[in-house]
Order: sequence, then structure tokens, then C-alpha cells
Amino acid sequence: MNETIQTLLNHRSIRKFQDKALSEQQITTIVDAARFASTSSYLMAYSIIGVTDPNKKAELAAISNQAYIKDNGHFLLFCADFHRHTLHATQEEYQDMLTNLENTEHFLVATIDATLAAQNAAIAAESMGLGICYIGSIRNDIDKVNDLFQLPSHVIPLFGMAIGYPADSPDQKPRLPKTSIYFENEYISDDEHKTQLQKFDASISDYYQTRKENQRIDKWTSQVKQSIANPKRARISTYVKEKLFNKR
Ligand SMILES: Cc1cc2nc3c(=O)[nH]c(=O)nc-3n(C[C@H](O)[C@H](O)[C@H](O)COP(=O)(O)O)c2cc1C
Repeated sequence: MNETIQTLLNHRSIRKFQDKALSEQQITTIVDAARFASTSSYLMAYSIIGVTDPNKKAELAAISNQAYIKDNGHFLLFCADFHRHTLHATQEEYQDMLTNLENTEHFLVATIDATLAAQNAAIAAESMGLGICYIGSIRNDIDKVNDLFQLPSHVIPLFGMAIGYPADSPDQKPRLPKTSIYFENEYISDDEHKTQLQKFDASISDYYQTRKENQRIDKWTSQVKQSIANPKRARISTYVKEKLFNKR
């Protein structure tokens, strides 16, 4: 197994970091890895904001209710971004672009581009011996994040990423087996899905009961039902539209 595959298969989110900042060189390497991700139609419809201001980090930590957003080696905020694409357009050209920029397809394009760049950054960081944790909970107060970073139209914050030298080595969280997520030629039946999920529930229950920290009795199928049924961040749909994404 080569080192890249080993890095990928060794992933776990890190939520405790040493008090040691990343070097400029490390940040550049991580951002370069992000820049070279594949991108839909060469649009590069994303931006990354490095957050070094301790006050802004503290604000984000409060919004997310997670201390590791301020206590890490570096913090990146990934945004879907079609703003720069509009800057060279005349008023008339902009009107032609707007109809398309506002559709769901372009919302997906920018979101996918940002996510691919982020995962490249994550793998680069992990390959350098650093740990990462994605932070979706910056969306707990998306308006505050918007204002904190003065995001213009056509730019929305998607998630953050805390990066740093790990101060913890958590157990690895199991994943759905290959048979649950990879099918050949057609989608599998609900019965096949259920059989796979039953097996996965047994292994995840074991993981939750025996892991080093925060042991609990839980099953994946119960956890996801509860998670998805809970109303969450209802303001996002309106915010996204206000930023001229996903309107049609
Ligand atoms: C887009 C995204 C957002 C996430 N947001 C958070 C978050 O706000 N806080 C957190 O502690 N973990 C967050 N995570 C990490 C997931 O909880 C974690 O990846 C998942 O439980 C699997 O665990 P593992 O990464 O250790 O394998 C996020 C992950 C992704 C991909």
C-alpha cells in the first residue's frame, strides 16, 4: 500500500491540537494542494479565507460552540464563490450571467468545487503529519460569519477546517462497508441495503461502547434518523438565495 493510500485510510478528525502555529510554508503547501483540485469547467468557483485574527477565531468558536476553532495551528474558511467571475462583466453581460448563476446547477458547481479543494487541503495536511477537523457548525449563524468576513454577493461560507499538530489520537470511526456504498451497474434493493445496515449497526455499536472517549450505546440507523429529523439551520435556505445562489 503506498503512502497516499495509507494517509487516506488513516483519517480521523482531530479536535485537540498542540499550541503550535503552522508555518507559512505549510500553509502555502496546503493551499497549493487545494488550488490543484479538479474544478468544473475550469471555473474555480471557491475561495479560502485563512483566519489568523484571534478575535475572529474567538467569534467563530462561539458561533460553532467548539473551542478547537480558536485553539489550532491554522483555520481555513471555505466559501462557494462566483463573485470574481462577475467582475469583468458589463451591466448587460452581468444580467445574462445572473440567470444562470442563480440556478441550482451553479450552486452545486461552486459547492462541489469548494469541497474538492477542501478535501485536497485535508489530505495534504494529513500527509504532512497534521490533523484536521471540518467545521460545518460555522453555519449556526451564517449571517454573523458573512458579516465577520464581509462576504460580497455570490459568496457563501460553507464550512471551516481546523488544522494543526494533533494533541490526541482518537480511535478511528468505522465507515459503511464497500457493499453499502459501491454498486455496479444499478442501485441495490432496499432489502440489500437493510441487510448491510444491520451488520453495520452491530459494528458501530461495538465502536461506541469500546472507544477511548465519550462511550455510549448507539446505532448508526438511530443516530441518523434523529440527526436528520431535528430541524437545523432553517435560515440557510433564505441566506443562500439572498446571496444569489440556488434561486431557480
Ligand atoms: C462538511 C463537514 C462538516 C463537519 N462539521 C463538524 C463540526 O462542526 N464539528 C465537528 O466536531 N466535526 C465536524 N465534522 C467532522 C465529522 O463529524 C466527522 O468527519 C465524522 O464524524 C467522521 O469522523 P472522522 O472524521 O473522525 O472519521 C464535519 C465533517 C464534514 C465533512
